[in-house]
Amino acid sequence: MIIRRVEPNDLDDITKLESICFPEAEAATRESFEYRIATFPDSFYVAVEDGEIIGIVNGCVTDSLVISDELFEPEGGHNPKGRSQAIFGLLVDPRYRKSGIAARLMNHLMDAARQAGREKMILTCKEYLIKYYEGFGYVNCGVSKSTHGGAVWYDMVADL
Ligand SMILES: CC(C)(COP(=O)(O)OP(=O)(O)OC[C@H]1O[C@@H](n2cnc3c(N)ncnc32)[C@H](O)[C@@H]1OP(=O)(O)O)[C@@H](O)C(=O)NCCC(=O)NCCS
Repeated sequence: MIIRRVEPNDLDDITKLESICFPEAEAATRESFEYRIATFPDSFYVAVEDGEIIGIVNGCVTDSLVISDELFEPEGGHNPKGRSQAIFGLLVDPRYRKSGIAARLMNHLMDAARQAGREKMILTCKEYLIKYYEGFGYVNCGVSKSTHGGAVWYDMVADL
């Protein structure tokens, strides 16, 4: 398995994997991924096994210390000079879970963010994943203002 930067040609495979891993109300659209790949390819990585994309991590860069729903929008505030690396999505093909692929993607993005001089990692997650992210050094900052997909999310922040 290798981890590499996203490429424009990955668009269809990424959209498909996202729709497998998230409910329809939460899954990012093809148009959204098109925007993300064009706008922040330096913070968008894929895990590839035998030529197939089996995992994804991506998110914009911002000065904000929490994720807001506006951040997901094209005009939402990607700032290449921002101090926080956001994570919009971390997902692994169900056939390849529980073998550390998400952990490798997470560490890859955290290393890249550190090297780029970011100060914080920020993400939102559902309650059952709080413990998982705490394992990477994230701290639970409570219920998020985000209502993305109609779910309850928790703000998680890690120092880099
Ligand atoms: C959450 C998600 C990304 C985790 O992916 P993953 O590749 O299975 O993650 P990891 O393998 O790093 O860790 C998962 C668990 O497997 C364990 N694990 C890792 N390597 C292992 C191995 N070799 N053998 C056994 N267990 C292992 C981890 O310790 C972890 O245990 P925990 O659940 O008790 O914390 C994946 O389940 C997913 O895509 N879910 C749907 C999308 C989603 O909700 N994403 C998160 C919100 S953005």
